[in-house]
Amino acid sequence: MFALANENCMKVLFVCLGNICRSPLAEAILNQKVSGTSPSQDISADSCGTENYHIDQAPDHRTIEVAHRNNVQIDHLGRQLSEDDFHIYDQIIVMDKSNLYDTLALKPKESKAEVRLMRDFDPEPDDGEVPDPYYGGEDGFQQVFDILDRSIEAFLKKQQD
Ligand code: 4NP
Repeated sequence: MFALANENCMKVLFVCLGNICRSPLAEAILNQKVSGTSPSQDISADSCGTENYHIDQAPDHRTIEVAHRNNVQIDHLGRQLSEDDFHIYDQIIVMDKSNLYDTLALKPKESKAEVRLMRDFDPEPDDGEVPDPYYGGEDGFQQVFDILDRSIEAFLKKQQD
């Protein structure tokens, strides 16, 4: 879950549809990658969904399982994207084009937050979307983990350039 670190900390918000599969996993992966790194990687992540389907719910059990299988701690309760988020976060990173459309529709004109697709950072971007694994099998969750892991690695590298 999002922890206020300090004023200079870059704040990243990951957004998907339900906030129980892709975005809480992205949040957990980023926070684990930057924990214990130098202040130059003073970045922290939170996540939310464009919809209100899973407010205050833990991530899907398959999300928790794939995180743990890959040695990533995960701790999040579902919440919905709000206008306030556009004044709190520096970078808002969405999982697919539908999330991008819904997120930009809510963005206040005066917000300076940058809204990007997660796979804009992926060295193997494919169709540019992180697929929604909710209606599929376990393999889809490992595939999503691998996409997020390498995209977030590339995102963090870019912040150091
Ligand atoms: P997510 O996946 O957007 O990656 O969290 C989904 C979770 C729940 C639903 C759809 C997608 N749903 O319809 O409840």
